[in-house]
Amino acid sequence: MGRSVGAQREPGAAVNRFRIPSSRDRAVAASKRPVAFDPSVSVGSVRLANPVMTASGTAGHSVELAPYGDLGRLGAFVAKSLAAYPWAGNPAPRVHPTTQGMINAVGLQGPGVPAWIATDLPALSAVGAQVVVSIWGRSVADYAAAAEQLAGLDGELRDTVIAVEVNLSCPNLEGRRGIFAHDAALSAEVVAATAVCAKPRWAKLSPNTDRLVDVATAVADAGADAVTLINTVLGMVIDVDTRLPTLGNGGGGLSGRAIHPVAVRSVFDVHQALPTLPIIGVGGVTCARDALELMLAGASAIQVGTATFADPGAPWAILDDLFSWAVTEGISSFDQVIGAVG
Ligand SMILES: Cc1cc2nc3c(=O)[nH]c(=O)nc-3n(C[C@H](O)[C@H](O)[C@H](O)COP(=O)(O)O)c2cc1C
Repeated sequence: MGRSVGAQREPGAAVNRFRIPSSRDRAVAASKRPVAFDPSVSVGSVRLANPVMTASGTAGHSVELAPYGDLGRLGAFVAKSLAAYPWAGNPAPRVHPTTQGMINAVGLQGPGVPAWIATDLPALSAVGAQVVVSIWGRSVADYAAAAEQLAGLDGELRDTVIAVEVNLSCPNLEGRRGIFAHDAALSAEVVAATAVCAKPRWAKLSPNTDRLVDVATAVADAGADAVTLINTVLGMVIDVDTRLPTLGNGGGGLSGRAIHPVAVRSVFDVHQALPTLPIIGVGGVTCARDALELMLAGASAIQVGTATFADPGAPWAILDDLFSWAVTEGISSFDQVIGAVG
Protein backbone atom coordinates (compact mmCIF):
# COMPACT_ATOMS: atom_id res chain seq x y z
CA MET A 1 0.00 0.00 0.00
CA GLY A 2 2.68 2.50 1.11
CA ARG A 3 3.11 4.21 -2.23
CA SER A 4 -0.61 4.52 -2.83
CA VAL A 5 -1.48 7.44 -0.55
CA GLY A 6 -1.24 9.98 -3.35
CA ALA A 7 -2.45 7.61 -6.05
CA GLN A 8 -5.68 6.80 -4.22
CA ARG A 9 -6.50 10.41 -3.50
CA GLU A 10 -9.57 11.61 -5.35
CA PRO A 11 -10.84 15.17 -5.66
CA GLY A 12 -12.78 16.01 -2.52
CA ALA A 13 -11.74 12.83 -0.74
CA ALA A 14 -9.16 14.43 1.52
CA VAL A 15 -11.53 15.87 4.11
CA ASN A 16 -13.12 12.51 4.80
CA ARG A 17 -9.96 10.52 4.67
CA PHE A 18 -9.42 10.42 8.41
CA ARG A 19 -12.96 9.96 9.66
CA ILE A 20 -13.50 7.19 12.19
CA PRO A 21 -13.74 3.97 10.15
CA SER A 22 -17.23 2.49 9.83
CA SER A 23 -17.91 -1.19 10.49
CA ARG A 24 -17.75 -1.72 6.73
CA ASP A 25 -14.34 -0.01 6.60
CA ARG A 26 -13.18 -2.29 9.37
CA ALA A 27 -14.44 -5.36 7.57
CA VAL A 28 -12.63 -4.28 4.40
CA ALA A 29 -9.51 -3.53 6.42
CA ALA A 30 -9.67 -6.89 8.18
CA SER A 31 -9.85 -8.65 4.83
CA LYS A 32 -6.84 -6.65 3.56
CA ARG A 33 -4.80 -6.93 6.75
CA PRO A 34 -2.13 -9.63 6.55
CA VAL A 35 -1.10 -9.44 10.22
CA ALA A 36 -2.00 -7.36 13.25
CA PHE A 37 -1.05 -3.69 13.08
CA ASP A 38 2.02 -2.75 15.13
CA PRO A 39 2.09 1.05 15.62
CA SER A 40 5.62 1.17 17.06
CA VAL A 41 8.49 2.74 15.12
CA SER A 42 12.27 2.82 15.53
CA VAL A 43 14.32 5.99 15.61
CA GLY A 44 17.79 4.52 15.55
CA SER A 45 18.22 2.58 18.78
CA VAL A 46 15.05 4.03 20.32
CA ARG A 47 11.78 2.15 19.91
CA LEU A 48 8.72 4.39 20.23
CA ALA A 49 5.23 3.03 20.90
CA ASN A 50 4.00 5.13 17.98
CA PRO A 51 5.39 7.85 15.70
CA VAL A 52 3.71 10.91 17.27
CA MET A 53 5.63 13.27 19.57
CA THR A 54 5.25 16.82 20.77
CA ALA A 55 7.68 19.39 19.34
CA SER A 56 10.12 21.16 21.63
CA GLY A 57 8.90 24.51 22.90
CA THR A 58 5.26 23.97 22.00
CA ALA A 59 4.15 21.65 24.81
CA GLY A 60 5.81 23.16 27.86
CA HIS A 61 8.56 21.85 30.09
CA SER A 62 6.51 19.26 31.96
CA VAL A 63 2.90 18.08 32.29
CA GLU A 64 1.21 21.30 31.09
CA LEU A 65 -0.62 19.35 28.35
CA ALA A 66 -1.76 16.53 30.65
CA PRO A 67 -5.32 17.96 31.00
CA TYR A 68 -5.73 17.46 27.23
CA GLY A 69 -4.42 13.92 26.81
CA ASP A 70 -2.42 11.07 28.28
CA LEU A 71 1.24 12.01 27.80
CA GLY A 72 2.14 8.33 28.24
CA ARG A 73 0.15 7.47 25.08
CA LEU A 74 2.37 9.57 22.81
CA GLY A 75 5.46 8.16 21.13
CA ALA A 76 7.36 10.67 23.26
CA PHE A 77 7.06 14.04 24.97
CA VAL A 78 9.77 16.46 23.83
CA ALA A 79 10.46 19.13 26.45
CA LYS A 80 11.23 22.76 25.65
CA SER A 81 14.96 23.32 25.15
CA LEU A 82 17.00 23.72 28.32
CA ALA A 83 20.42 25.24 28.89
CA ALA A 84 22.80 24.25 31.65
CA TYR A 85 21.58 27.37 33.50
CA PRO A 86 18.31 29.31 33.86
CA TRP A 87 17.62 31.64 30.94
CA ALA A 88 15.14 34.53 30.83
CA GLY A 89 14.40 34.58 27.10
CA ASN A 90 13.41 37.58 24.95
CA PRO A 91 11.30 40.66 25.68
CA ALA A 92 7.57 40.51 24.84
CA PRO A 93 5.77 40.32 22.49
CA ARG A 94 7.15 36.84 21.86
CA VAL A 95 4.55 35.31 19.56
CA HIS A 96 2.41 36.66 16.76
CA PRO A 97 -0.06 34.97 14.40
CA THR A 98 0.78 34.91 10.68
CA THR A 99 -1.01 33.61 7.62
CA GLN A 100 -1.18 29.83 8.10
CA GLY A 101 1.12 29.84 11.11
CA MET A 102 2.83 31.93 13.72
CA ILE A 103 6.12 33.67 14.33
CA ASN A 104 7.93 33.49 17.65
CA ALA A 105 10.97 34.81 19.40
CA VAL A 106 10.50 33.28 22.84
CA GLY A 107 14.27 33.16 23.19
CA LEU A 108 14.60 29.77 24.87
CA GLN A 109 13.32 30.80 28.30
CA GLY A 110 13.80 27.97 30.75
CA PRO A 111 14.73 26.94 34.29
CA GLY A 112 17.97 25.17 33.30
CA VAL A 113 18.65 21.44 33.35
CA PRO A 114 19.25 21.02 37.13
CA ALA A 115 15.99 22.76 38.16
CA TRP A 116 14.08 20.90 35.42
CA ILE A 117 15.40 17.56 36.71
CA ALA A 118 14.37 18.50 40.24
CA THR A 119 10.85 19.76 39.51
CA ASP A 120 9.60 18.94 36.00
CA LEU A 121 11.02 15.53 35.13
CA PRO A 122 9.54 13.73 38.18
CA ALA A 123 6.04 14.90 37.16
CA LEU A 124 6.58 13.59 33.62
CA SER A 125 7.85 10.31 35.00
CA ALA A 126 4.81 10.02 37.27
CA VAL A 127 2.39 10.21 34.31
CA GLY A 128 4.34 7.57 32.37
CA ALA A 129 5.71 9.85 29.65
CA GLN A 130 8.66 8.82 27.51
CA VAL A 131 10.72 11.99 27.58
CA VAL A 132 13.10 13.50 25.07
CA VAL A 133 15.13 16.32 26.65
CA SER A 134 16.08 19.15 24.34
CA ILE A 135 19.27 21.04 25.17
CA TRP A 136 20.77 24.25 23.83
CA GLY A 137 23.76 26.46 24.51
CA ARG A 138 25.64 29.55 23.44
CA SER A 139 28.96 27.73 23.13
CA VAL A 140 30.17 24.17 22.64
CA ALA A 141 31.05 24.15 26.35
CA ASP A 142 27.45 25.12 27.24
CA TYR A 143 26.08 22.10 25.36
CA ALA A 144 28.66 19.84 26.99
CA ALA A 145 27.69 21.16 30.43
CA ALA A 146 23.97 20.44 29.83
CA ALA A 147 24.82 16.94 28.59
CA GLU A 148 27.00 16.37 31.65
CA GLN A 149 24.12 17.37 33.94
CA LEU A 150 21.88 14.80 32.22
CA ALA A 151 24.55 12.14 32.70
CA GLY A 152 23.92 12.50 36.43
CA LEU A 153 20.37 11.11 36.17
CA ASP A 154 19.76 7.76 37.78
CA GLY A 155 17.01 5.27 38.57
CA GLU A 156 13.51 5.88 37.27
CA LEU A 157 14.27 9.40 36.09
CA ARG A 158 17.15 8.10 33.96
CA ASP A 159 14.82 5.50 32.38
CA THR A 160 12.16 8.15 31.71
CA VAL A 161 14.58 10.03 29.42
CA ILE A 162 14.79 8.04 26.19
CA ALA A 163 16.84 10.49 24.10
CA VAL A 164 18.42 13.92 24.05
CA GLU A 165 17.53 16.32 21.25
CA VAL A 166 20.36 18.77 20.58
CA ASN A 167 18.84 22.03 19.38
CA LEU A 168 21.48 23.49 17.08
CA SER A 169 19.44 26.51 15.94
CA CYS A 170 21.19 28.77 18.42
CA PRO A 171 23.72 31.58 18.03
CA ASN A 172 27.31 30.66 18.78
CA LEU A 173 28.73 33.39 20.97
CA GLU A 174 32.30 32.17 20.61
CA GLY A 175 34.74 32.70 17.77
CA ARG A 176 32.93 32.98 14.46
CA ARG A 177 29.50 34.15 15.51
CA GLY A 178 26.63 32.52 13.67
CA ILE A 179 24.07 29.77 14.08
CA PHE A 180 25.52 26.36 15.01
CA ALA A 181 23.13 24.56 12.67
CA HIS A 182 24.35 26.58 9.68
CA ASP A 183 27.91 25.30 10.10
CA ALA A 184 28.58 21.59 9.55
CA ALA A 185 31.90 21.48 11.44
CA LEU A 186 30.55 23.42 14.42
CA SER A 187 27.40 21.28 14.58
CA ALA A 188 29.57 18.15 14.58
CA GLU A 189 31.66 19.61 17.39
CA VAL A 190 28.56 20.18 19.50
CA VAL A 191 27.22 16.68 18.86
CA ALA A 192 30.57 15.12 19.78
CA ALA A 193 30.69 17.23 22.96
CA THR A 194 27.29 15.95 24.11
CA ALA A 195 28.23 12.24 24.00
CA VAL A 196 28.80 12.44 27.73
CA CYS A 197 25.01 12.30 28.34
CA ALA A 198 25.18 8.59 27.37
CA LYS A 199 21.73 8.71 25.74
CA PRO A 200 20.82 8.53 22.05
CA ARG A 201 21.21 12.03 20.58
CA TRP A 202 18.98 13.55 17.94
CA ALA A 203 20.45 16.63 16.26
CA LYS A 204 17.75 19.19 15.52
CA LEU A 205 18.66 21.10 12.39
CA SER A 206 17.67 24.37 10.76
CA PRO A 207 16.15 24.78 7.31
CA ASN A 208 17.78 28.22 7.01
CA THR A 209 20.83 26.92 5.15
CA ASP A 210 21.55 25.49 1.72
CA ARG A 211 23.95 23.04 3.43
CA LEU A 212 21.33 20.93 5.19
CA VAL A 213 22.62 17.63 3.78
CA ASP A 214 26.22 18.57 4.67
CA VAL A 215 25.18 19.42 8.23
CA ALA A 216 23.16 16.19 8.55
CA THR A 217 26.14 14.17 7.28
CA ALA A 218 28.48 15.89 9.74
CA VAL A 219 26.28 15.35 12.80
CA ALA A 220 25.67 11.71 11.87
CA ASP A 221 29.43 11.19 11.55
CA ALA A 222 29.87 12.89 14.93
CA GLY A 223 27.55 10.43 16.68
CA ALA A 224 23.98 11.67 16.26
CA ASP A 225 21.55 8.72 16.18
CA ALA A 226 19.02 10.76 14.20
CA VAL A 227 18.25 14.22 12.91
CA THR A 228 15.14 16.21 13.71
CA LEU A 229 14.01 18.29 10.72
CA ILE A 230 13.10 21.17 10.92
CA ASN A 231 13.31 24.07 13.34
CA THR A 232 11.54 27.32 12.47
CA VAL A 233 12.13 29.35 9.31
CA LEU A 234 13.67 32.81 9.82
CA GLY A 235 11.06 35.52 9.51
CA MET A 236 9.96 38.98 10.57
CA VAL A 237 6.74 40.92 10.91
CA ILE A 238 6.59 44.74 10.93
CA ASP A 239 3.69 46.75 12.33
CA VAL A 240 2.94 49.28 9.61
CA ASP A 241 1.26 51.71 12.03
CA THR A 242 4.13 51.91 14.51
CA ARG A 243 6.80 51.11 11.90
CA LEU A 244 8.34 48.81 14.49
CA PRO A 245 9.00 45.06 14.43
CA THR A 246 6.01 43.26 15.95
CA LEU A 247 8.14 40.91 18.07
CA GLY A 248 10.14 42.27 20.99
CA ASN A 249 13.26 40.62 19.58
CA GLY A 250 12.86 42.08 16.10
CA GLY A 251 13.06 38.93 13.97
CA GLY A 252 11.71 35.51 14.84
CA GLY A 253 11.01 31.99 13.62
CA LEU A 254 8.06 31.09 11.41
CA SER A 255 6.20 27.86 12.16
CA GLY A 256 2.92 26.11 11.45
CA ARG A 257 1.15 25.10 8.27
CA ALA A 258 3.03 27.71 6.20
CA ILE A 259 6.32 25.84 6.62
CA HIS A 260 5.03 22.30 6.05
CA PRO A 261 6.31 22.01 2.45
CA VAL A 262 9.73 23.25 3.64
CA ALA A 263 9.78 20.44 6.21
CA VAL A 264 8.71 17.83 3.66
CA ARG A 265 11.43 18.97 1.26
CA SER A 266 14.08 18.98 4.01
CA VAL A 267 13.16 15.46 5.12
CA PHE A 268 13.06 14.26 1.52
CA ASP A 269 16.46 15.74 0.60
CA VAL A 270 18.20 14.35 3.68
CA HIS A 271 16.56 10.92 3.32
CA GLN A 272 17.54 10.70 -0.34
CA ALA A 273 21.15 11.63 0.47
CA LEU A 274 21.43 9.60 3.69
CA PRO A 275 18.85 6.80 3.51
CA THR A 276 20.09 5.00 6.64
CA LEU A 277 20.01 8.08 8.90
CA PRO A 278 16.79 8.10 10.98
CA ILE A 279 14.79 11.32 10.64
CA ILE A 280 12.15 12.87 12.88
CA GLY A 281 9.94 15.14 10.78
CA VAL A 282 8.50 18.35 12.21
CA GLY A 283 6.98 21.41 10.62
CA GLY A 284 3.36 22.36 10.08
CA VAL A 285 1.81 19.02 11.01
CA THR A 286 -1.86 19.78 11.62
CA CYS A 287 -3.47 16.46 10.66
CA ALA A 288 -2.62 12.80 10.03
CA ARG A 289 -2.26 13.50 6.33
CA ASP A 290 0.57 15.99 7.05
CA ALA A 291 2.24 13.41 9.29
CA LEU A 292 2.01 10.77 6.56
CA GLU A 293 3.52 13.19 4.05
CA LEU A 294 6.61 13.60 6.25
CA MET A 295 6.80 9.82 6.73
CA LEU A 296 6.52 9.16 3.01
CA ALA A 297 9.38 11.66 2.52
CA GLY A 298 11.49 9.60 4.91
CA ALA A 299 10.64 10.47 8.52
CA SER A 300 10.46 7.55 10.95
CA ALA A 301 8.45 9.64 13.41
CA ILE A 302 6.93 13.11 13.55
CA GLN A 303 6.41 15.96 16.01
CA VAL A 304 3.41 18.22 16.39
CA GLY A 305 4.23 21.83 17.28
CA THR A 306 2.25 24.95 16.41
CA ALA A 307 -0.97 22.98 15.86
CA THR A 308 -0.97 22.45 19.64
CA PHE A 309 -1.49 26.20 20.23
CA ALA A 310 -4.76 26.08 18.27
CA ASP A 311 -5.82 22.76 19.79
CA PRO A 312 -3.88 21.42 22.80
CA GLY A 313 -5.32 17.98 22.01
CA ALA A 314 -3.81 18.01 18.49
CA PRO A 315 -1.04 15.41 19.11
CA TRP A 316 -3.64 12.87 20.31
CA ALA A 317 -6.13 13.69 17.55
CA ILE A 318 -3.39 13.18 14.96
CA LEU A 319 -2.32 9.93 16.62
CA ASP A 320 -5.89 8.60 16.60
CA ASP A 321 -6.34 9.57 12.96
CA LEU A 322 -3.06 7.93 11.98
CA PHE A 323 -4.24 4.70 13.65
CA SER A 324 -7.59 4.92 11.86
CA TRP A 325 -5.79 5.43 8.58
CA ALA A 326 -3.48 2.47 9.22
CA VAL A 327 -6.42 0.21 10.06
CA THR A 328 -8.36 1.31 7.01
CA GLU A 329 -5.31 0.81 4.78
CA GLY A 330 -4.63 -2.59 6.31
CA ILE A 331 -0.92 -1.93 6.86
CA SER A 332 0.97 -4.04 9.38
CA SER A 333 3.41 -1.29 10.41
CA PHE A 334 4.43 2.26 9.57
CA ASP A 335 7.60 0.82 8.02
CA GLN A 336 5.44 0.35 4.92
CA VAL A 337 5.05 4.14 4.71
CA ILE A 338 8.44 5.50 5.78
CA GLY A 339 10.38 6.74 2.75
CA ALA A 340 7.82 5.17 0.41
CA VAL A 341 7.26 8.24 -1.77
CA GLY A 342 7.18 7.17 -5.41
C1 LIG B 1 6.58 29.13 20.48
C2 LIG B 1 7.61 28.16 19.94
C3 LIG B 1 8.69 27.82 20.74
C4 LIG B 1 9.64 26.92 20.26
N1 LIG B 1 10.68 26.57 21.07
C5 LIG B 1 11.58 25.65 20.64
C6 LIG B 1 12.61 25.20 21.51
O1 LIG B 1 12.71 25.57 22.68
N2 LIG B 1 13.50 24.30 21.01
C7 LIG B 1 13.41 23.80 19.73
O2 LIG B 1 14.24 22.96 19.34
N3 LIG B 1 12.42 24.20 18.90
C8 LIG B 1 11.51 25.10 19.33
N4 LIG B 1 10.49 25.47 18.50
C9 LIG B 1 10.41 24.91 17.15
C10 LIG B 1 9.45 23.72 17.10
O3 LIG B 1 9.88 22.66 17.93
C11 LIG B 1 9.33 23.19 15.66
O4 LIG B 1 10.58 22.72 15.22
C12 LIG B 1 8.84 24.24 14.68
O5 LIG B 1 7.92 25.12 15.27
C13 LIG B 1 8.20 23.62 13.44
O6 LIG B 1 7.12 22.78 13.80
P1 LIG B 1 5.57 23.30 13.79
O7 LIG B 1 5.36 24.01 12.50
O8 LIG B 1 4.76 22.05 13.95
O9 LIG B 1 5.46 24.23 14.95
C14 LIG B 1 9.51 26.37 18.96
C15 LIG B 1 8.40 26.71 18.17
C16 LIG B 1 7.46 27.59 18.65
C17 LIG B 1 6.28 27.93 17.78
